[in-house]
Amino acid sequence: MWNRGAYLVQGLGHCGSCHTPRGVGFQEKALDESGSAYLSGAPIDNWFAANLTGAPNAGLGRWSEPDVAQFLKRGANRHATAFGSMVSVVNHSTQALTDGDVTAIARYLKSLPAAGEAPAALYRYMPDATQALLGRPANDPGAKVYNAYCLHCHGADGRGYAPLLAPLAGNPNVLAANPSSLINVTLNGSDVLVIDGVPSAYPMPAFSNVLNDRQIADALTFVRAGWNNGAPAVQASDVAKSRKATAASR
Ligand code: HEC
Ligand code: HEC
Repeated sequence: MWNRGAYLVQGLGHCGSCHTPRGVGFQEKALDESGSAYLSGAPIDNWFAANLTGAPNAGLGRWSEPDVAQFLKRGANRHATAFGSMVSVVNHSTQALTDGDVTAIARYLKSLPAAGEAPAALYRYMPDATQALLGRPANDPGAKVYNAYCLHCHGADGRGYAPLLAPLAGNPNVLAANPSSLINVTLNGSDVLVIDGVPSAYPMPAFSNVLNDRQIADALTFVRAGWNNGAPAVQASDVAKSRKATAASR
């Protein structure tokens, strides 16, 4: 089972082409589990392809084998939802794999030791402080934007309505050091997941024409700090850069 998973992950159109960081010559830093950078997460086309190692917060450390298998078959699970370039991977490829094959991939990925994340305390869900801020948003500019534009889908408790609407509390993409995916998905929304021919009912909307760089940075800073996520603030200058870099695709 492990060997089959390794073969599928490393084979044609392999997962590492997006998920493994690249070196100065644009070469993938590792092609299999013998290299410590392997599948440890990488920036690609203004997205950040998530850490797929056992890293406890930004990686798959808190996901079970069935969680990983469900994500590849359905594009969503209780932790996260596919967006960005991962949507076409699920739409055109992994949902068509057999249950045996997605389980083999999950078994293999779950065997990868933690890499690519600075040591940190294991994430633990804490709703209270964040929910209090949402009750008096004037005290926090990010809470104000979240209240008006994000809360009805992602919830005051940050748990969304998984797997339909992505949770933001404890979500590995939200906890990752690199915020490119969060900025890009908030500016440009997500391509629609189509599972068994049925498009997702409430995809993430684009806010590039609705919110300015500062408002998006504030909302994401609020999300990164909220529910005990403990991830660093997002800068308006990074939102401006992504807005410019992704303008052509809008
Ligand atoms: C074209 C680039 C690309 C390829 C190829 C790709 N991915 Fe991804 N993947 C991404 C991006 C970008 C994200 C972050 C957005 C998201 O979570 O959906 C992601 C997210 C994920 C996640 C969710 C992680 C999390 O913490 O939310 C899993 C699991 C995953 N990919 C597995 C795979 C596997 C297994 C393969 C190979 C079969 C693969 N990916 C191939 C781009 C890619
Ligand atoms: C109409 C419902 C809706 C609204 C409103 C909405 N989102 Fe989303 N959001 C989604 C869905 C659904 C996803 C999962 C990707 C997909 O399926 O399109 C998502 C994904 C995300 C993600 C990536 C989560 C992951 O899985 O890693 C972030 C970050 C995010 N939204 C932030 C925001 C912010 C910030 C706002 C407010 C400015 C907002 N969203 C408003 C529905 C919504």
